[in-house]
Amino acid sequence: MMIEKIKILNRMGFNFTILISFFIFFSPYPMLAVNDEVCISCHEKRHTGEDKKEMRWGTEFIKRDLKGSVHRQLKCIQCHSDATSIPHKRGLSKVDCTKCHMDTGRSFSESVHGSSLSKGERNAPSCVTCHGDHKILKITDPRAPVFRNNQLTLCSVCHTDKEIQKKYNLPGTKVIKAYERSVHGRIIKEGKSIKAAVCTDCHGAHLILKSNDTNSKTNKMNIPNVCGRCHVEIYNEYKLSIHSKALKEGKLDSPSCTDCHGEHTLTLVRDPNATVYLKNIPTTCAKCHENQELIKKYRLPSDRYSSYIGSFHGVALKYGNVTTANCTSCHEVHRILPASDPESSIHPKNLSLTCGRCHPAMKNAANIGKIHVEAKKESSLGMYIVRNFYTWFIGIMMTLFVAYIILDVYGILRRRRNDKK
Ligand code: HEC
Ligand code: HEC
Ligand code: HEC
Ligand code: HEC
Ligand code: HEC
Ligand code: HEC
Ligand code: HEC
Ligand code: HEC
Ligand code: HEC
Ligand code: HEC
Ligand code: HEC
Repeated sequence: MMIEKIKILNRMGFNFTILISFFIFFSPYPMLAVNDEVCISCHEKRHTGEDKKEMRWGTEFIKRDLKGSVHRQLKCIQCHSDATSIPHKRGLSKVDCTKCHMDTGRSFSESVHGSSLSKGERNAPSCVTCHGDHKILKITDPRAPVFRNNQLTLCSVCHTDKEIQKKYNLPGTKVIKAYERSVHGRIIKEGKSIKAAVCTDCHGAHLILKSNDTNSKTNKMNIPNVCGRCHVEIYNEYKLSIHSKALKEGKLDSPSCTDCHGEHTLTLVRDPNATVYLKNIPTTCAKCHENQELIKKYRLPSDRYSSYIGSFHGVALKYGNVTTANCTSCHEVHRILPASDPESSIHPKNLSLTCGRCHPAMKNAANIGKIHVEAKKESSLGMYIVRNFYTWFIGIMMTLFVAYIILDVYGILRRRRNDKK
């Protein structure tokens, strides 16, 4: 008998879990009785219970599923831990996965899903909703429901459900549809690669929080880190920018990645509908740099957009010349710095190089004048005087001209009346 048991152990190979089962195997406690074989003896086939109700599960499936799962080494009672005396009570409690997966359990309990679930909301997912029960696979297994390329399907089940959206006031279907069309979503959906961003790259898998929560991965302050995990070089440039510095100081009006790119709507940069497509860049920057409230709040120079759009470059862009300079040609795309910073592409010292990229003649220019001409007394007096002079001059000319015509017409009419008399 004893020898047979040891033989079985040898056949199974010796590892830690086997060691544990070894102790359970020889333990003098009631557990001894509750071996898998015991469970199986009753659950073997479709079993008719006392009340003649057919049980839903036969072990045939459970055994098969478990065998192919990550938990193949676990005993039934390690999960069904209250089935320790046989016959076990009816209405066993739900399996507590967090007993072994403690860290995951902690994160999950703080999440929107977890806290909703603990309040008894039946629409929120539990571990089993996302991972399954007996047939739990490694997350890297393409058949697992939580595998990267399957997450769209997994999360969509609830997040495109109209009732759930209404009940919890969620922006579901819109989000899913947008993501499917986004640069990341397309790559994932077409199965081209698993490297593009999936739901849990941006939201996390267990600690999913609302984006207004400062601990949320999707909180504005944390977004650059999230994108930066994959777009490393761009993140390193962005990190040096005035926008990044300002955001870190808590100036929430300063852009993170998604303010310029969008999150679920994110497209290829060369897509003509992209917010960052060459032709659309000025309007994207103008959202903030032509916003009077922000200009006042951060004492930013004004008229950036209007002065650009009236310039040679702006006019050329308006007529479809995308090789001309847009905001980022002079300011850089991600490493945007103020003119006062010696590292800035628009620092007077560096300007000849910046313009010289497209105007070779300017490469050695000693002094390149102002680019954004605001027509304000403080910043460009000459421009201010000239513009004001012309405004008044033309205004007075036009008034005189109109007055002259009116007087002339009046004169003609009067002469005609006099002639008739
Ligand atoms: C003596 C026979 C018998 C043995 C041995 C047995 N079960 Fe059951 N089990 C049943 C019956 C009968 C039901 C159905 C109860 C019902 O439908 O209300 C059941 C139901 C269950 C359920 C469904 C949840 C519930 O409470 O309705 C689980 C889980 C379960 N058993 C696990 C186990 C595990 C694990 C073992 C081994 C440790 C085991 N059972 C051993 C007879 C048995
Ligand atoms: C990895 C943990 C795990 C292991 C190991 C495990 N189960 Fe389960 N089992 C579950 C989960 C999860 C459910 C779903 C119900 C729940 O959440 O409690 C379940 C449900 C069941 C049910 C009831 C199904 C129903 O619809 O009510 C039976 C019966 C059952 N298990 C028997 C077994 C038997 C027999 C074994 C051993 C051969 C076993 N389980 C091993 C996790 C496990
Ligand atoms: C909303 C769906 C969802 C729920 C609910 C969920 N998970 Fe996960 N889980 C995932 C996804 C998706 C991944 C894969 C994440 C990845 O690709 O990085 C994952 C990964 C895991 C992993 C392996 C990687 C890791 O983080 O350690 C474990 C273990 C795990 N989950 C356990 C659990 C447990 C235990 C619960 C319940 C407390 C749970 N999960 C609840 C979706 C979920
Ligand atoms: C008795 C402890 C125990 C319980 C209970 C348990 N697990 Fe596990 N789980 C493990 C161990 C150990 C592994 C690692 C297996 C391996 O690496 O081969 C694992 C692996 C996993 C993985 C795969 C992680 C990866 O890296 O791909 C997932 C997912 C998972 N468990 C989810 C669950 C869920 C969901 C439940 C509840 C239904 C659960 N576990 C219950 C011990 C447990
Ligand atoms: C079983 C259904 C279900 C599944 C599956 C599910 N969710 Fe949810 N989710 C909900 C419900 C319900 C809420 C609202 C909870 C609340 O507000 O109490 C929610 C809330 C959220 C929120 C917070 C929205 C907000 O503004 O409150 C995010 C983000 C989210 N889920 C993302 C995901 C992701 C990512 C996945 C896939 C890994 C996923 N969900 C899978 C049901 C689900
Ligand atoms: C590239 C990153 C990224 C991906 C991929 C992504 N999201 Fe989001 N998601 C965000 C950001 C950032 C927000 C917050 C937007 C805001 O603050 O207005 C958000 C918001 C949400 C919301 C609204 C609730 C909230 O927290 O404001 C839901 C629901 C949601 N996402 C679900 C999903 C689902 C489901 C998927 C996968 C199909 C997904 N997201 C994929 C970045 C992403
Ligand atoms: C102030 C607006 C703005 C911010 C903030 C911003 N971007 Fe961009 N991004 C752009 C513009 C404009 C382009 C298009 C440049 C071009 O046409 O070459 C671009 C291009 C890209 C590209 C594709 C081009 C390439 O070189 O591969 C990626 C990827 C990208 N950004 C990621 C990010 C990430 C990640 C962040 C945050 C760390 C971020 N962006 C922050 C405006 C921004
Ligand atoms: C899991 C990795 C991952 C994460 C996280 C991620 N991306 Fe991407 N992203 C990719 C991959 C892969 C591509 C495919 C295009 C390429 O770069 O070859 C891509 C493409 C892009 C593009 C289009 C580039 C082009 O050539 O037009 C932009 C813009 C972009 N991502 C921005 C973001 C932003 C903003 C975030 C954060 C909200 C983000 N990404 C998060 C992996 C990721
Ligand atoms: C979401 C709003 C927003 C967007 C979009 C935005 N910016 Fe800004 N930008 C700001 C804020 C706020 C500051 C001020 C930061 C500070 O006070 O430190 C700033 C500062 C600057 C500065 C430094 C100004 C100074 O006087 O120090 C430059 C240059 C700049 N942005 C250029 C751009 C360009 C070019 C774009 C488009 C590619 C752009 N910004 C898009 C909000 C924005
Ligand atoms: C042809 C190059 C060029 C283009 C195109 C351009 N800028 Fe500038 N920008 C500059 C230079 C040079 C300065 C610094 C001197 C000045 O104000 O003329 C500057 C200054 C600024 C400043 C103030 C920076 C500081 O530190 O004072 C902001 C903000 C700004 N530009 C935003 C924009 C926006 C938004 C656009 C697009 C609508 C744009 N720029 C287009 C070259 C350019
Ligand atoms: C991305 C390339 C690019 C950059 C950088 C650039 N320009 Fe231009 N610029 C052009 C193009 C293309 C035109 C012709 C536009 C047209 O069709 O009128 C032009 C036109 C001009 C003109 C009108 C006269 C002419 O030569 O056609 C002036 C003046 C000018 N740029 C000055 C500058 C200055 C100063 C800078 C640096 C602060 C600068 N540009 C940076 C591409 C650029």
